[in-house]
Amino acid sequence: MCRLLLLLLLLAAAVPANASAAAAEPPPASAMAPWPEQYHAVVLTNLTARGGRLQVIDIYYDWPRGRDLNLVRLQLPGAGEPPLWNVEWANGTSYLFDAASCQTYTFAVGLLPPDWKKAGGGAAYLGRARVDGFDCHVWSNFVFARYYEDVATGRPVAWNFGMDLRHVLSFEPGGVLEDSSMWQAPAYCFDGSSNGDDGDAAGGVEAARAAGPI
Ligand SMILES: *[C@@H]1O[C@H](CO)[C@@H](O)[C@H](O)[C@H]1NC(C)=O
Ligand SMILES: *[C@@H]1O[C@H](CO)[C@@H](O)[C@H](O)[C@H]1NC(C)=O
Repeated sequence: MCRLLLLLLLLAAAVPANASAAAAEPPPASAMAPWPEQYHAVVLTNLTARGGRLQVIDIYYDWPRGRDLNLVRLQLPGAGEPPLWNVEWANGTSYLFDAASCQTYTFAVGLLPPDWKKAGGGAAYLGRARVDGFDCHVWSNFVFARYYEDVATGRPVAWNFGMDLRHVLSFEPGGVLEDSSMWQAPAYCFDGSSNGDDGDAAGGVEAARAAGPI
């Protein structure tokens, strides 16, 4: 099946859960800190319950330059399971590619701004919960069904994207990926030679589940 379709289905599934979340109480000031304008996070997600595998995703969020990169790696990849790249731009255009194929798609919302918690941004504060051993402030917005942030340090602990809970293993404010070649979508994203229905390497579909706006 086409990865793009899977991705869009996931996104569609994610929206109603967020939209219906009602604010439990006004957020305390400590929950309101914006994201750093640039960060590098490493997140772990576990898709084994659905026939997938563990994934480690490197995220480089770069608001001043209007871009975000997700580099998705599977646990113990086989020969046909290359890393998957998802480069997103603030104008909403995203490129999802591996060593052989590419899809281009559009998110009307573009990137989440660092101050997405602010009133009017569509975010809802849902109170506190304990996640991965951390006491967390809980939010939802139009991208994350749930977003958990450590009360003590303000660092993100986990978030739900689609059906998956992503656990934040490291969070490095100011972490920037300078290497421009890492951001450049390959030529086959632009020449029409890959239409996305490429019969996927074994890891492709599962990796695509992990690709997301953040
Ligand atoms: C991943 O999920 C499976 C099935 O739910 C569970 O058995 C396994 O312990 C989990 N592994 C990790 C590292 O979370
Ligand atoms: C958005 O920006 C990217 C990167 O500069 C570019 O490749 C893409 O064509 C742009 N999309 C639109 C619709 O302008």
